[in-house]
Amino acid sequence: MENLPIGIFDSGLGGLTVASEVTRALPHERIVYLGDTARCPYGPRDLAEVRRFVLEIGTWLEQRPVKLMVIACNTATAAGLALAQRTFDVPVIGVVEPGARAAVRATVNRNVGVIGTVGTIESGAYSRAARAIDAGVTVFSVATPKFVDVVEAGLRRGPGTLEEWLAESSDVFIRPSFYELARDYLYSLKRSGIDTLVLGCTHFPLLQAAIQQVVGAQVRLISSAEETAREVAETLELRGHLAPPPRDATPPAHHFATTGEVAEFARFGSRVLREPIDRVEHVPLETLASLPGEGRLAALGEQVPRERGEAACG
Ligand code: DGL
Repeated sequence: MENLPIGIFDSGLGGLTVASEVTRALPHERIVYLGDTARCPYGPRDLAEVRRFVLEIGTWLEQRPVKLMVIACNTATAAGLALAQRTFDVPVIGVVEPGARAAVRATVNRNVGVIGTVGTIESGAYSRAARAIDAGVTVFSVATPKFVDVVEAGLRRGPGTLEEWLAESSDVFIRPSFYELARDYLYSLKRSGIDTLVLGCTHFPLLQAAIQQVVGAQVRLISSAEETAREVAETLELRGHLAPPPRDATPPAHHFATTGEVAEFARFGSRVLREPIDRVEHVPLETLASLPGEGRLAALGEQVPRERGEAACG
């Protein structure tokens, strides 16, 4: 078991912010990462549809096999974490609870803000998770779906490292358009007197500096990636499933896959991961659809809406 990889998935590239923290915390572990870029964004979709995706991709990872799964997508966690935990035999870790825990730990005045996709915010998952840890915490939530578009546009801009892109994005976005957008989105949160803001979407850590500028230095920003990586490490350690240190200095060989464009995934993914991604497997949607996601949902008596054909991202 300890030699099996850790499976991580997201609607696209954003989950690589989580994968990056997992590889930093656990440098001996191998990762299998699937980015469902062909069906990204998940944020505006019906949560029952996202649950089907969670079961399909979880089944794909289960068949590799993997020793633990991470749902590195807030929307997919909000929609399908509990279902995935009931369905799969290996531990499944989402990103909402770790983020909520880190926020509850960080807040002093117990006023916590959360921003995320429409799916995540409407699900109320962060409020529930934070209040389950500390019922005295007040959670103020705002959906900021256009921030996903900003990151997508930024990732597609010219060559260069993520740092260069972030610097460049300050020129491109932090003039009226990004500032106006962010001020509109974040105005009510600022007025609520929050001292902590959860970046409840895997894309948002890439906008951290810009968001910090808008909310002010007094607000502590929380990205769940680090806390999620800690939970992965603790879970594997508790089960005695941590990978043994390698006999030589060869770094672990990670495996990357996407339902979308492989060249695009490798190019933009390397920026998010901050490591080169040389090879990417293409997983056709038909392959995922042939896995028992829908069947498993139907067995649970859920209606599964068909896809609505949103614009691709990631
Ligand atoms: N990965 C998604 C999340 O963390 C953001 C992008 C999407 O809408 O699919 O919620």
